[in-house]
Amino acid sequence: MTSKDYFHQVFSSMPRQGPGYPEATRKAWSLIPSVPPHPAILDIGCGTGTQTRDLAGLSDGTITAVDNYQPFLDRITGWSKQEGLSDRVRTVQASMDDLPFEKEEFDIIWSEGAIDIMGFEKGLSLWKQYCKKGGYIVVSDLTLFKSPAPEELIEFWKPYGVTVYTEEEKSRQISDAGLQLLHMFRLGEKGWLEHFYEPMQEVITKLRKENGDAPECAVVLDALEQEAVIYRKYGNYYGYTFFVMRNP
Ligand SMILES: C[S@@+](CC[C@H](N)C(=O)[O-])C[C@H]1O[C@@H](n2cnc3c(N)ncnc32)[C@H](O)[C@@H]1O
Repeated sequence: MTSKDYFHQVFSSMPRQGPGYPEATRKAWSLIPSVPPHPAILDIGCGTGTQTRDLAGLSDGTITAVDNYQPFLDRITGWSKQEGLSDRVRTVQASMDDLPFEKEEFDIIWSEGAIDIMGFEKGLSLWKQYCKKGGYIVVSDLTLFKSPAPEELIEFWKPYGVTVYTEEEKSRQISDAGLQLLHMFRLGEKGWLEHFYEPMQEVITKLRKENGDAPECAVVLDALEQEAVIYRKYGNYYGYTFFVMRNP
């Protein structure tokens, strides 16, 4: 197995693939001022679909769940069939920077913890075309709560090529993308610990027992554990902010 396989094994074994929790999804949904009776929703970087399921419960709409990793989408196909949702949830394997949709196809574009893969500003500018005029875009993304960040945190992010912007900087990026920021709020710490790093640690412990000697496995598990250590140390400096935006 390659490191990438082990990486996917960790995330496939977790209830969700990024920090978050259902109450935050519900809160963001409640901040959308007006939702049509049967909205067409696009969920980008959906993973195994934790928030996709929540969105299906919150609306009478149809949800198109997009990810570039087919095994995550297969999981969505599995649970949506079991839960009688397959007529409202469809999956599309595609890259978020090359989406196979029509202009203005969706009432609401949703993305939790995934836009940083292509960059906040670039993602918004590109995805906006798929959102109806007067529709909404909701994303959660990594932001800096206190600036400047400590040196150790900057050094930790460097190899990932991540530039983490403040909420003020992101507010400007939103208006530069031609969108209107309606609300923003921060994901609570339990979205990171209880719903993400704690289940991740259980998977890591199990995989270390089973494959601890494989260097391809150890390198992935060490990096993920280090990420959790950094969050526990500097979680007051950064986290996820939900941005609820309107396409005017
Ligand atoms: C941090 S996870 C978030 C998953 C889910 N939204 C959640 O909060 O549990 C990011 C997701 O983006 C997907 N992804 C990575 N690169 C992608 C790309 N270029 N296009 C589409 N999805 C991508 C990953 O497979 C993963 O499921």
